[in-house]
Amino acid sequence: MPKLPIVVLISGSGSNLQALINAIARGELSAEIHAVISNRPDAGGLQRARAAGIPAEALDHTAFESRAAFDQALQAHIDRYAPELVVLAGFMRLLSDDFVAHYSGRMINIHPSLLPAYTGLNTHQRVLDAGDKQHGASVHFVTAELDGGPVILQATVAVQPTDNAQTLAARVLTQEHRLYPRVVQWFAEGRLQLRDGQVWFDGAALSQPLQLEALPDEDGMARQGEPGQ
Ligand code: GAR
Repeated sequence: MPKLPIVVLISGSGSNLQALINAIARGELSAEIHAVISNRPDAGGLQRARAAGIPAEALDHTAFESRAAFDQALQAHIDRYAPELVVLAGFMRLLSDDFVAHYSGRMINIHPSLLPAYTGLNTHQRVLDAGDKQHGASVHFVTAELDGGPVILQATVAVQPTDNAQTLAARVLTQEHRLYPRVVQWFAEGRLQLRDGQVWFDGAALSQPLQLEALPDEDGMARQGEPGQ
């Protein structure tokens, strides 16, 4: 199978990027990361990319006069690598409508909540403050609405009475590392599309997001505790 060319956008540690790198290395993800681009020059994920031999670029958003100017430059950088899918992996920037429209149907994001609940920041603390019993993570197509695009796949995490935001975040992140390679692989296999604002999977519109727990195990994809994460 030809490898899906992707560009990964990050702002931080890049553990989700690492999960993609590891899945590719294990032969479980038929993709090639053409570049990793960070809006923060100090993002740890840039080192992870370089260690894996992937071109890594910092495009510092503070050097730009406006969001539109930054997004235009970012788009030019991304398109130089000709990706078929743009993967937001902890990319903590609001995106302009033009940018989102340019990548419509070919940009996905991972978010640490069971969307549509808890869009935005500090999701783990907000879940604890609300006394929720369940939390999780979602992968969705990116649309103009912040964290509001149609959800593809989710994983649920039970909230423990002893949890704080850090312990909860760590368990959610472990699930994120299982979710993201699987969704990117589906896209690579041509099983996933965005059509008329809906997720299509295996030729049918999804009436609700897929749930990781309900999927049959695919060897290797369900492993936890990856090295380097
Ligand atoms: C992840 O938890 C990701 O879901 C979140 O940032 C973290 C990045 O971790 N993204 C968002 O909150 C986007 N709204 P990582 O850099 O270790 O992959």
